[in-house]
Amino acid sequence: MTAKDIERCITPKTKAIVPIHTYGNVCDMAPIMELADRKALLVLEDAAEAIGSKYMGRMAGTIAPVGIYSFHATKTITTGEGGAAVTSSIELRDRMHLFRSHGMAARRYWHEVAGHNFRLTNMQAAIGCAQLEQIEAITKERDRVYKTYTRLLQNVEGAMLQYYSDKVDPVVWAIAIALDVSAFSQGRDAVIEQLNQLGIETRPGFYSANTMPHIYGKLRLPVCEYLSQQVISLPSSPTLTEEEIERVCTSFKSCKK
Ligand SMILES: Cc1ncc(COP(=O)(O)O)c(C=O)c1O
Repeated sequence: MTAKDIERCITPKTKAIVPIHTYGNVCDMAPIMELADRKALLVLEDAAEAIGSKYMGRMAGTIAPVGIYSFHATKTITTGEGGAAVTSSIELRDRMHLFRSHGMAARRYWHEVAGHNFRLTNMQAAIGCAQLEQIEAITKERDRVYKTYTRLLQNVEGAMLQYYSDKVDPVVWAIAIALDVSAFSQGRDAVIEQLNQLGIETRPGFYSANTMPHIYGKLRLPVCEYLSQQVISLPSSPTLTEEEIERVCTSFKSCKK
């Protein structure tokens, strides 16, 4: 998502911008923050997939006034399910506390707003603290996995690896590759099936949000739509051995037509 693309989508009804830092990459935030300032819009960073990634030296999720992280089982650090929201604003922190806990604040069992139960359990928080203590080791292994995939796949014709700009120091959450039909004429879904037959579980790129009618109706996003049909992500766990990554890459290359 770029500032240029966001600007053409802003309408008088727009209240906030939610850049999504996909697969561990970070959106080019400086122009997005500049645009938001100019248009007086709030920015909420979706850093669910990008914990630990940095943009111009700053942690993804801490550039805008609000950021969120996911601790789902597959994420870089996990509490099984759950997540965290961070903010640099005391006022927003207090609002989030209110909505997190059934809309109750100082007065017990008095609901100031219609809140929910978004609390993380103490057991999950304990797992999260232990995971945080290991984040450097996890990040190092993710970096190894990313570098090995890059070495083995960077010159494979028709397989475009995710691009990271010089401003981004990523913690790669998933190895995402856009397939070109000239090299994978059977199509992405057939490649997923071929790899599945070889015992390798992959996942397709996310659906483009505008194709879900209840979300964005008639908006056209041709680049997102194209990528959602062409992207495959390969096994990306930090526990993968070099041999396992080599097997995945050899199998992936054998799918080329
Ligand atoms: C970009 C992005 N945003 C939000 C979420 C939702 O996170 P959770 O499953 O922890 O609610 C996910 C992951 O599931 C995600 O990848």
